Amino acid sequence: MIALKSAREIEIMRRANVIVAEVLQELKQRVAPGITTLDLDAIAEEMTLSRKAIPAFKGYNVAGRIYPRCLCASVNDEIVHGIPSNRPLREGDIVGLDYGVIYDGFYGDSALTVAVGKVSAAAQRLLEVTEASLYAGIEQLHEGKRLGDLGATVQKIAEDAGYSVVRAFVGHGIGKRLHEEPPVPNYGEKDRGLRLKEGMVLAVEPMVNVGGYEVEIKDDGWTAVTRDGSLAAHFEHSIAITKNGPYILSQL
Ligand code: MF3
Ligand code: CO
Repeated sequence: MIALKSAREIEIMRRANVIVAEVLQELKQRVAPGITTLDLDAIAEEMTLSRKAIPAFKGYNVAGRIYPRCLCASVNDEIVHGIPSNRPLREGDIVGLDYGVIYDGFYGDSALTVAVGKVSAAAQRLLEVTEASLYAGIEQLHEGKRLGDLGATVQKIAEDAGYSVVRAFVGHGIGKRLHEEPPVPNYGEKDRGLRLKEGMVLAVEPMVNVGGYEVEIKDDGWTAVTRDGSLAAHFEHSIAITKNGPYILSQL
């Protein structure tokens, strides 16, 4: 069942997502050679608690596995769900920062991928294309359009650039739970799939690989990496579908 949100609920979700956006903006500014992803995790936790919100991922249970930290930080060939560690970031790395909070009973969820210092032209282009694919997908989020319109749009931008779109993970509805119906794939066919309605709130999160779309999970049980070792990027926003079109809740 898809839980449609009232205007009042959407405004609460806006507040949750603004906190996520503020945290991600601060983390983006702090990313530099030498900082560790555990340092970033600590900053995120402190900022969240000081805003009277709860980090959403710490203790989150996926199929019996408990996520140990507040932030997901995924470096280079890590696609998503990288666990913060005390390994310092290095010049030339790219790092995906995925963050979520609970505020007043509702979840916020957003992600971006950031260059550490100066990165290769190839890495820079991957970041730009992946972010562009997210925004092009968001433009499809109008009442009456279908989920396949979103997926096909994201997929075309990634594949036209020579990249592939991850299949093993998808976006999701979001609200009183982090992962709600419907699943939101970043691939698909125009005019297919669920029809979009006012009051739906979706977390759209393209994961784009330079090489093939296949993923592997590391021995830590969480970190998803590209099977071929190629670079990967991830961008995510939580978006409400309104009468006036898409409302990006996680954008400042
Ligand atoms: N943004 C991710 C998602 O939408 C975060 C989940 S990480 C977890 O699935 F640890 F909480 F599972
Ligand atoms: Co998400």
